[in-house]
Amino acid sequence: MVNHQFRLAARPIGLPKRSDWNYTEEPVRDPGPGEVLVKSLYISLDPAMRGWMNEGRSYIEPVKIGDVMRAGAVGRVVASQNPSFTTGEYVFGVLGVQEYAVSDGRGLTKIDPNIAPLPVYLGALGITGLTAYFGLLEIGKPLAGDTVVVSGAAGATGMVVGQIAKIKGCRAVGIAGGPEKCNYAVRELGFDACIDYKSEKVMESLHRDCPKGINIYFDNVGGEILDAALANLARGARVVICGAISQYNSTEGIKGPANYLSLLVNGARMEGFVVFNFVSRYAEGVRELAVWRAMGKLKTREDIVEGFQTFPETLLRLFSGENSGKLMIKVADS
Ligand SMILES: NC(=O)c1ccc[n+]([C@@H]2O[C@H](COP(=O)([O-])OP(=O)(O)OC[C@H]3O[C@@H](n4cnc5c(N)ncnc54)[C@H](OP(=O)(O)O)[C@@H]3O)[C@@H](O)[C@H]2O)c1
Repeated sequence: MVNHQFRLAARPIGLPKRSDWNYTEEPVRDPGPGEVLVKSLYISLDPAMRGWMNEGRSYIEPVKIGDVMRAGAVGRVVASQNPSFTTGEYVFGVLGVQEYAVSDGRGLTKIDPNIAPLPVYLGALGITGLTAYFGLLEIGKPLAGDTVVVSGAAGATGMVVGQIAKIKGCRAVGIAGGPEKCNYAVRELGFDACIDYKSEKVMESLHRDCPKGINIYFDNVGGEILDAALANLARGARVVICGAISQYNSTEGIKGPANYLSLLVNGARMEGFVVFNFVSRYAEGVRELAVWRAMGKLKTREDIVEGFQTFPETLLRLFSGENSGKLMIKVADS
């Protein structure tokens, strides 16, 4: 059997290009004692990948030049010399952008396709769902009646944030790019309003849709949208810094918030977090998200692109907003 991989060839400047990757081929190796061989079925594409390609200190080591690109994936155990895993079981793990991965079993989580289809374990029952869950509940600390605003509202993380806000009795206001995504957030996901940042003045629309101010702003995008939210905070507001996708490919440095004195005026706080900090509580989060999904309170959407070789181009969809819901590549049927 042959394994194909995408390895980091160069640290990108701006948007990653195909030449920033090496497409490599090598034989699949048999698992040794204590190891399992996993065949990837779906590989997760995440905005964070852009950060992992950069040099410098972060919450996780950068991917080294020549290494297989880091990625979460769902796969099937095809050979096992580890007593905890049996051939045929499905797992989630950081398997990388490759068709097969050998693992010592650490960091592999078993998943059950009878509870939810496999792709859902990369989205609402995976890292982005958990990011929404812990970011909103533990950092945002919503109270019934709060107005929760989330950017990237039709994306993998944002769509779950808005739905959890509704479950907790809050008003949910989304910010997303384009009328289709905004209609989806309101009509399908139950958001109370959604602002199309590509055609509206976000500052004014937030004022209109949040007449009592914003109690929680869950930020996925940073930049000007963060500034517009800061200008509309209610007293005691919580600003949850989850991501800043508008800044990830900037060649001119990160644009910081200008309206930060709103934190002072409103006795508000702004706090960043990384979902990995909650790893010991993932099982608890997945359990509750799965219950909401089974009850029909949590809708999921996966944007599945066929073909391992499309990886360099498919990744760019996150930055152009071409994805709707959790973006992933389907590598194999079974
Ligand atoms: N802190 C953590 O632990 C953690 C974990 C996972 C994800 N995140 C962060 O969460 C955010 C969302 O990630 P995701 O995986 O759920 O991706 P996603 O929302 O499914 O996809 C990214 C979306 O970002 C929007 N976008 C792209 N460029 C933009 C720009 N210049 N201005 C405004 N919006 C832009 C696009 O939607 P539109 O069409 O609406 O523009 C795009 O669909 C990212 O910032 C990511 O880094 C953080």
